Amino acid sequence: MLGQAPDVMSGLDRDLKKVFVKTYGCQMNVYDSERMMDALATAGYAAAETAESADLILLNTCHIRERASEKVYSELGRLRVLKGEAAEAGRKVLIGVAGCVAQAEGAEIMRRAPAVDLVVGPQSYQRLPALVADAAAGKRSIETDFAVAQKFSVLDGLPRGEESRRLDREATRDKNYSAFLTVQEGCDKFCTFCVVPYTRGAEVSRPVAAIAAEAQRLVAHGVREVTLLGQNVNAWHGEGPDGNDWGLGRLLFHLAEIPGLDRLRYTTSHPRDMDDALIAAHRDLPALMPYLHLPVQSGSDRILAAMNRRHSRADYLRLVDRVRAARPDIALSCDFIVGFPGETEADFADTLSIIDTVGYAAAFSFKYSPRPGTPAATQADQVPEAEKSERLQRLQASVNRHARVFNASTVGRTAEVLFERKGKRPGQIVGRSPWLLPVHVDASATLIGTIGRVVIETLGTNSLNGRLAAPAAEPRIPLPMEATA
Ligand code: SAH
Ligand code: SF4
Ligand code: F3S
Repeated sequence: MLGQAPDVMSGLDRDLKKVFVKTYGCQMNVYDSERMMDALATAGYAAAETAESADLILLNTCHIRERASEKVYSELGRLRVLKGEAAEAGRKVLIGVAGCVAQAEGAEIMRRAPAVDLVVGPQSYQRLPALVADAAAGKRSIETDFAVAQKFSVLDGLPRGEESRRLDREATRDKNYSAFLTVQEGCDKFCTFCVVPYTRGAEVSRPVAAIAAEAQRLVAHGVREVTLLGQNVNAWHGEGPDGNDWGLGRLLFHLAEIPGLDRLRYTTSHPRDMDDALIAAHRDLPALMPYLHLPVQSGSDRILAAMNRRHSRADYLRLVDRVRAARPDIALSCDFIVGFPGETEADFADTLSIIDTVGYAAAFSFKYSPRPGTPAATQADQVPEAEKSERLQRLQASVNRHARVFNASTVGRTAEVLFERKGKRPGQIVGRSPWLLPVHVDASATLIGTIGRVVIETLGTNSLNGRLAAPAAEPRIPLPMEATA
């Protein structure tokens, strides 16, 4: 009898269908892909290692720039071939498109790509198991209706056992010590270049209790650093346990009380939503890492107004000063768009000068890409492609210079590093500095999952090298008479 157990187990395993999710775009999509896997686990799907071995292939797509959207159609071309080959071998493969391209152009995907069996927008992932069942029965469906949107029933209504089981499985493979946690979705700001308010819908914030419960589950599975996510994460406002409306600063203090949750980060912030409580958290909350991604997009007041960012260059620089006064060693990072319609060489010079003034530790920069349905796309004064490319090169050269200066400034310092994995070289482990840069150290792999003090010694291309610092002396406990003196 006992001897039969493994056979029964492997029989069960064989019955599990396999899903492969390919993720494009931002960290919100990375997080959502995991939630989709959780939802599909309830329908009997396990993760596939490759698209070739999967029964269901999902593309979690990004619509932010034209090139991001185009990738989807070329990938669908490849998958059509794969699906055809599987069918010839007598195996049925389903293909689904999720994410922001699904939301923006679901009907067009269905028309252009007959191999696609289902389209599901980011608001509707709780419907995924039902849509997959329909697809298996031969019914192609599109689910992108905001009216039936219940996004947060996916995040908060999922059978929690599934999430825990997934985390258990991960724990036996590559354990994650750093995890994302979505606290806020959607955007009400309508920058004139951006599709996000259309693809992700209006701002929604999760309540504190749901966020804290998810953070506790992550910590129970070994996570020590949590990055709170949202398209406008610092616009988050949720109901606290006291029934009052809380902001992100207060939420961070609350989460830092969870034993074992040692490090907190958040992204992406809008300059208009950096309130006093959040800035104070950077001053008073040791668990909050000294890193802030604070996109400005352009340094020109004229362009900022045309983008509908609703703050000036001076407002932004004042904010940077306040954040730096609260946390002098903070690393600032940014997003920039070059060649927004009407951007002149003088406007662009303002962007270069804001980079010099702030001295960012890192930045993402993009050529403006006209997006269907956004106001800026139909402006007459589009900047020629060659000019955009040339500006992008100059901007990136400047950003790289500043990033190197910032990274070099950490050499010689002792920093706390969360070791996350083995390095490429034997005997080496890698973690992240408080300022988010990978740090390589020669040390025992038993330290992975712990936070160690590292003396930063040299600067690599996009990383740092260091050595373990001598253990910190035990804090001296004051004698009773000292304590009362
Ligand atoms: N909510 C964040 C940005 C999310 S989108 C914020 O307001 O800062 C991520 C980045 O993509 C943006 O910061 C912007 O730099 C870039 N982006 C968005 N739309 C774009 C477009 N149409 N063309 C080029 N870059 C774009
Ligand atoms: Fe897009 Fe602007 Fe919203 Fe950011 S704030 S997601 S750039 S509309
Ligand atoms: Fe892309 Fe959607 Fe994120 S458009 S950047 S995947 S919110």
